[in-house]
Amino acid sequence: MKRDELLILLAGPTNVSREVLTSLAGPVIGHRGESFHALMSSIQENLRKVFRTQNEVVVLTASGTGAVEASIVTFLRRGEKLIVPVYGVFSERLATIASKHGVDVKRYRVPEGTPPSTDLIEKALDEHQDAAALAVVYNETSTGVTVRTLDRFSKIAKDYGALFMVDAISILGGDILEVDSWGIDVCIAGAQKCLALPPVVSLVSVSEKALARGRRNEPPSTYLNVVSHVDYLRERNETPFTPAIPLFYALDEGLARIVREGLENRYRRHRVCATAFYAAFEEMGLDPFAEKEFRSHVVLALKYPPGVSDGEFRGRLKEKYGVAVAGGMGALKGRVFRVGCMGEISAQKVIRGVSSISHCLNDLGHKNDTTTALSKAHEKLSELSEKPNTA
Ligand SMILES: Cc1ncc(COP(=O)(O)O)c(C=O)c1O
Repeated sequence: MKRDELLILLAGPTNVSREVLTSLAGPVIGHRGESFHALMSSIQENLRKVFRTQNEVVVLTASGTGAVEASIVTFLRRGEKLIVPVYGVFSERLATIASKHGVDVKRYRVPEGTPPSTDLIEKALDEHQDAAALAVVYNETSTGVTVRTLDRFSKIAKDYGALFMVDAISILGGDILEVDSWGIDVCIAGAQKCLALPPVVSLVSVSEKALARGRRNEPPSTYLNVVSHVDYLRERNETPFTPAIPLFYALDEGLARIVREGLENRYRRHRVCATAFYAAFEEMGLDPFAEKEFRSHVVLALKYPPGVSDGEFRGRLKEKYGVAVAGGMGALKGRVFRVGCMGEISAQKVIRGVSSISHCLNDLGHKNDTTTALSKAHEKLSELSEKPNTA
């Protein structure tokens, strides 16, 4: 299987369009000159549209984890309380990063397959009324669970005077996200997921309230100081340190593609493709890890049927069928596989994914009817052809 022919259905990195890949070959320019300023202006304009905010959105040459760490270091002080509902690997990782920086993390564990509830958030803030911040992972990539009540969490955080921080790394660009109207103070996103960009660029939107908190804190890091990124952006339209210029070209091209498609169309495309995947998987006898009402539209975690091993399934799927899916993480290692429904996902990719997974399961003894699974997917996907995606 040639690398180019592999269908990537990982939970990121994901498929990147030819246009975006080509843009990486632009000239390496200095980051203190007019060409870079023009590039940054264009990026900033479209980032605000995609984040649905008037805030600055800083661009870090870092993977998502780097942006999480930068946000912790900038907006929280040692000893301050941070509330983190833990419902999978990435919310646990956020809590761990904060603990390592001396933040007093209050973890609230959530039952498997569900997101944190509004009651839990209310209880947490009531128990820790002096909490400096509440940090929530919007889409738990490890379990395929999405929180649908961020606006309510934000209101609770505000009632208690806490900053509201959101890790939207795996979902921005693939599902609704309203930074300003939901009142998100710090929103973190990654390039290599629903934005369909190459890794390693991450984005952080910063409210005035968060900025004031960051200035007061005088972050104990030079490189990971988000406030200095905001200042450079405001004052000079630059980054404080040398950025990954080729990735900035890709970001500019990718954001323009997203704006051309339109956010509503893009969310819809993700939702319809995910619905088609879920319908086909149900037909194959696969059970999603997430409870029905909380299932993500951008990453699906499916429990392995008895007798099918993770290594054999994913190895065969990749080698024989040319499709890469992700394994489980943490406690779910070997128990689930994960299908990314991100970025450049399309009806064609869903059909190829469904057919390959169905055949592969049949090869491994989990008998299912590929034709019926495909027809279930086609049925759902017809919603897309009624209003074609014009990107
Ligand atoms: C929700 C979430 N947070 C954080 C990360 C870490 O991002 P990265 O691997 O880019 O450092 C990921 C990556 O999958 C993620 O899905």
